[in-house]
Order: sequence, then structure tokens, then C-alpha cells
Amino acid sequence: MEKISRRKLLRGGAVAAASLPVLHEVVPHRRVHGQDALAAEPAPGDPGAGHGTAHGGPEGHASAFPRDRRVDHARNGFDPTEILRDFDYGRTRRLRGGRVLREWTLIADDKRIEVAPGVKFDAWAYNGRVPGPTLRCREGELLRIHFVNGSRHPHTIHFHGIHPALMDGMPGVGEGAGGGVIRAGERFTYEFDAAPFGMHHYHCHSAPLAPHIAKGLYGAFIVDPKQGRAEADELVMVMNGFDTNFDRSNEIYAVNSIPFHYQDDPIEVKRDELVRIYLLNILEFDQINSFHVHGNFFHYFPTGTSLEPAEFTDTIVQAQGQRGILELRFPYPGKFMFHAHKTEFAELGWLGFFEVRD
Ligand code: CU
Ligand code: CU
Repeated sequence: MEKISRRKLLRGGAVAAASLPVLHEVVPHRRVHGQDALAAEPAPGDPGAGHGTAHGGPEGHASAFPRDRRVDHARNGFDPTEILRDFDYGRTRRLRGGRVLREWTLIADDKRIEVAPGVKFDAWAYNGRVPGPTLRCREGELLRIHFVNGSRHPHTIHFHGIHPALMDGMPGVGEGAGGGVIRAGERFTYEFDAAPFGMHHYHCHSAPLAPHIAKGLYGAFIVDPKQGRAEADELVMVMNGFDTNFDRSNEIYAVNSIPFHYQDDPIEVKRDELVRIYLLNILEFDQINSFHVHGNFFHYFPTGTSLEPAEFTDTIVQAQGQRGILELRFPYPGKFMFHAHKTEFAELGWLGFFEVRD
């Protein structure tokens, strides 16, 4: 069968505007769980191919999983509403000379989680949750992350930040000193300075990289500036998704893992109060993600490394690994939607609401 994708068709250049409506009929559509016999295979060497078509027609819409049931958060061991405001400050003590040493223990494990009502996914998780814990520290501290690989697969923790090569969590770099790839049952302690301040993240860097990220080994890593930031209602949003049928394209899109969660459980914020969102895009297989809020604008601090906003807008885009800080106040009470400004992602779960109260 001739392999076909929306991108290939468009790249052909021969598609006249008048023939565009025909594409909908030409391109095979795939259901959420891939039962469609006409499913288009992604072309080799074209990693994005197929994803655009995968969720095309109404049968590919997220309504394919039941909306009258809820994910069992207690069984998953994490709840997206709690993840929003859950900052892990680790354990601290003062070193001689006054500097703060901050330590965490992160355990990688294989864990089956429910990513949509009735849809089970064999995830790999740090500390039992996807995304992993939001590690938070202050610029200039000494950080120690005790990593235990409790999984049946080799993993690492690769932090974004400024650190020595041995501390980079990179397979092939530092094995002689106990670092590099950390095999099943082994452990390693990453140690580095908290720098620069900003909104960062960590993820596994084992090969092949795409599944090690896509299966859930990532989390936010916040380095506060020495002087701190203004008091605010702070929220962590990790834009992610799940490839539930292993075709290297996502069937589920979300913030903090569970599709439509903040539609069912809107995020309550106070009118006129400063809201600060730490936003990360870790979505695998898709080239870009975005964030749009209704009825409002926000100041955007890319990577959070400057205290001066770069933009005042209502929509931003992030490639994988990009992140930033959004600051906004809601002047009006009521419900305001936020979502990926990519309709396909929104329809497959990446949307939610703020509920603004007086
Ligand atoms: Cu891994
Ligand atoms: Cu990275």
C-alpha cells in the first residue's frame, strides 16, 4: 500500500487550493486506538508524518474515549489539580560557610497509569508520577539529586542548566566515574550549582530518546532568583501527551497528563490576584505546542531567565524543551478557557478553564 500522509500530499506542491477539500477524503483517518484498517503508517525518516492525519475525522476525535467517566487519580497516585501547586523543595541544610545544600531522591520506575478514562498506559515515571515532581530551589544553592533506577530499563536524569559533563545524565559520558547511563537497579548522585535562575526541566536521556521521554520521564525544575519573585498564585503546567498505540504519534494531549482535566475541574483563581504559570512543553512526536488564554493577556518571560518580560500577548508557542513563565491577573470573574492554539491538540484533550472568583 502506498504510504500517505497529509504532509507528503502538501509537499507535493501540486495541491491547488480548490482541491484541498478533497484531502479530507483522500487521507485515511485513524481512530484513537488504531482500529482503523486504513491507518496510515508514518513514513520512515519522516517522524512527524502521519500525526496530522491520525486524528483527522470525527472518528479520531477525543470523544472516542468516554467523557462520562473520570480517571482514577488515587490509583494513579497523582492528581493534575494537585500537581499544579505542588512544589518539591527537597531537604535542605546549611554547609559550613553558610551555603544551602538542597537534596532530593528521585526513583525511576515502570508504572501502569490511566491516561484517559479506561485507557491504560505503561509509563515510566520519576517518583510514581507523570510529570515527575516539580523540583524547586534557589539560585546559588548546591543541589544533590540522588537517583535510583528502580525500572527494568536503563535511565538517566538529564537536567537543563549549567553543570559539569559528568552531571549531564548523558549515556556515554562519565560511565567510568559511575555516571552516564544508569542501569536497572543502579544509582547515581547528580551534584551541581543551581544556575541560572529560571524555569527549567529534567528528563531521561537514554537511547532511544523519544520513548524515554514519551513514556513519562520528565518534570519541571524551577530555580528561583536570589531576590525571589513577587507574591503570586503559582501554577505548574507541563504540556505533554501519550502515544497509546506506539505508532510514534500522540492520541492524547494534555497539561499535566490527563486530557480535559481542567475542563472537568477548572483551576480556581482569585480576581485581580497575580497568577504565575510555569509552563513547559515536553510533548514528543509533535514539532510544536502552544498556549492561549481567553479574555486576557499575559506577560511572557521566555525560560524565566530575565525579570523583564519579553512579550505581552495571549498566545505563545514552544518547541519541545522550551519553557517559560507567564504572569497575568484576571480582571473579570467567570470561566475563561485556555488551550493549545492547535485545534487538533485541543480536541484531543489539551484544553481547560480558569474559574475566576471574587
Ligand atoms: Cu529512560
Ligand atoms: Cu532536554
